[in-house]
Amino acid sequence: MPYTVPKLTDFSTGALDSAARELLSALEQESAAVSSENDWKVYRDRWMARKNGILTQLNDLWLKAAPGPNKRDVGQRVNELRETVTTKVEQRRTMAEAFDLARKMNVVTGLDAGSTATPRGTLRSPGESKFGPKAWVGDVRKLLLESEGLDITLPGIRRPIGAEHPVIKTMNEIVGVFRNLGYSVEEGPEIETDYYNFEALNFPPDHPARDTQDTLFIAGQESKPLRDRLLLRTHTSPVQIRTMQKMRPPVRIVIPGRVHRNDPPDASHSPMFHQVEGLAVDTNITFGDLKGTLDHAMKALFGASVKTHFRPSFFPFTEPSAEMFVSCFICGGEGRLRDGQGCRTCKLTGWIEILGCGMVDPNVYGFVDYDPSKVSGFAFGMGADRIALLKYGVDDIQLFFNGDVRFLEQFI
Ligand code: DAH
Repeated sequence: MPYTVPKLTDFSTGALDSAARELLSALEQESAAVSSENDWKVYRDRWMARKNGILTQLNDLWLKAAPGPNKRDVGQRVNELRETVTTKVEQRRTMAEAFDLARKMNVVTGLDAGSTATPRGTLRSPGESKFGPKAWVGDVRKLLLESEGLDITLPGIRRPIGAEHPVIKTMNEIVGVFRNLGYSVEEGPEIETDYYNFEALNFPPDHPARDTQDTLFIAGQESKPLRDRLLLRTHTSPVQIRTMQKMRPPVRIVIPGRVHRNDPPDASHSPMFHQVEGLAVDTNITFGDLKGTLDHAMKALFGASVKTHFRPSFFPFTEPSAEMFVSCFICGGEGRLRDGQGCRTCKLTGWIEILGCGMVDPNVYGFVDYDPSKVSGFAFGMGADRIALLKYGVDDIQLFFNGDVRFLEQFI
């Protein structure tokens, strides 16, 4: 029950003492519960409001009601109480402000009235403060000053500027070269079905690339038919199929993206790496177009003096297929550096293998409802990380993925 001022009938010293004690104990209790400026205003008004505040009620219910002979005594008592109440209320204001500040600065949690505060940061709640509530108010003030204070001798706050990752930068350059030739950019999912990653690309069911040795499969897919089983795409080639399904020829696209293989990491392997794939399908596209396009792209990427060179190869989704090499841009295709030392970049061969390519296999068109008697096209795919390694003379692919800022900073 909140305290109410009793109507006095007994004005003896003993009765006045006990009434005053009761009032002061209520004052003390209510004061302790004040823990914000809002609380404090309510508290102040309850005790000091001119209209019907507790002090005003003392005048009416005690002083005015006192019979003549007691007036002096009661008046003195009421004056003393007024003093005490006014001082107490004023003191608590400082405390309430400190509570608000502390809350604002987030130095103390659990500051609600009556709760046991959990100290956080350097300040404890007033109750727990070693040197009492007054010291606590001082500490809050000090902390506020420090937090607002400006020390111009301190070093400024530096906001390091981010930079494009060297692999992304390389991919963007490759994509840029093809964009300039009128190619558009397509992307596809990294979690792919067996159908898009293998079947529609003409991989026979027992092809070794489907082996768990090479592919990371999503677990728990055994109950599904093979073609629907999920895996992490091992190359960007499935996006060729996805694009041809939604687009009729002519198609000219590049596909940058992340791919995954079950390869343990070493200096030249990473279970996650990047490819840029390309596909051009139209009427009358020939192997000559493939060679001309890729030769141009390599000159744009590595310099006008590089030469290209194609060797027969095999991919299930192209026929014929080839691997393309560029002349080594470190030793100029000599296989030896100027000082006579063997060139390590091209392993003394003068040539660097850059990508796989070929003419789209007619079987692939069967999966996307293109007519192989009407259209033809070429495709290619290259490892962007490998090209970045070559371009920047980095000797360990792991450096690209370890996230060491000291390494990455060099590419700003
Ligand atoms: N997908 C192949 C791989 O990851 C690379 C490739 C080869 C892509 C020939 C092609 C291509 O588009 O025609 O090894």
